[in-house]
Amino acid sequence: MGPGLLFDAGWRIAALAPGAACAIVTDTNVAGHHVQALQTSLHLAGVRCAPPIVVPAGETSKSYTCFAEVCDALLTAKLERRDCVIALGGGVVGDLAGFAAACLKRGLPLVQIPTSLLAQVDSSVGGKTAINSPLGKNLVGAFHQPSLVLADTDVLDTLPEREFRAGYAELVKYGLIDDRGFFEWCERHRAGIFQGAPERVEAVRRAVAAKAAVVARDEYETGDRALLNLGHTFGHALERLAGYDGARLVHGEAVAIGIAMAFRFSVRQGLCAGQDAERVAAHLRAAGLPTTIAARLGPGFASPEAMLDAMAQDKKNDRGRLTLILARGIGESFVARDADVGAVRDFLGLECAA
Ligand code: GLY
Repeated sequence: MGPGLLFDAGWRIAALAPGAACAIVTDTNVAGHHVQALQTSLHLAGVRCAPPIVVPAGETSKSYTCFAEVCDALLTAKLERRDCVIALGGGVVGDLAGFAAACLKRGLPLVQIPTSLLAQVDSSVGGKTAINSPLGKNLVGAFHQPSLVLADTDVLDTLPEREFRAGYAELVKYGLIDDRGFFEWCERHRAGIFQGAPERVEAVRRAVAAKAAVVARDEYETGDRALLNLGHTFGHALERLAGYDGARLVHGEAVAIGIAMAFRFSVRQGLCAGQDAERVAAHLRAAGLPTTIAARLGPGFASPEAMLDAMAQDKKNDRGRLTLILARGIGESFVARDADVGAVRDFLGLECAA
């Protein structure tokens, strides 16, 4: 983590995998900004590199069709088992290229070079890779740990404001899970983080440390790792109902709404003080994020039944029981197995009508 790492990628990859060739997977937004710098760095380090594989920007690229195209392009590049796939982009590229790396020849080394805040603080770390099914988000995937993650905080300067805000939801999440002090630090330093001050590097560093600690305890999500899904059960359902259409809703916005909903539901269940839920929502709103379904998707967007149907596919569910991440307060999240579906339906009735 830190500034200028894109230019170090070549020698770092050469040191990691001497003699390896590589192929870059990226998207139409990132290609124009950063591919050239990465190619130059690889070239100077003597790393052979196939022509970049460029997918359309946006969540819809996490599809079966695009996955097959990326796999065939990587095979066309004749990568061998000790060669590297480089995912250069945000969460979509990391998940898609990562899953292709997991599958091709039963597993190729993967280098993640995340270019969005969301990917730097969350999706590039921990080895989750996946594509979406029409039946739900991230339902087809694999755990495939990257051999190297390079989070160059300078590249965040070219990130569109909306994408930066979306990534901020995943950053704040770490404070809400188990570190109230980090949430309060985010409240104090939000402006600096958005402006690219040293606080931004510090925020990425603290978030990655928090994530790495959870993943080290529970790599395959048999327990605590599910906490990282705070806000995601409601959020993933909204993304599916929005048809993964980034013009309407991007992942981090869905997570922001989902986090606010998880806190409101916790209040309704008598678990959490209302003032904590309001403080969380106020902070997300101050960062320009939506905290209700209607705020982003308009009134009447979803019915409780449609939401519950989408949530039934959630990977955290066990033996047909709904699992939610709820909170007893800021920094006090917990995994609630066997959530009361009737109570969730009533709550969704209110949230969908609001
Ligand atoms: N993004 C949640 C996880 O990696 O577990």
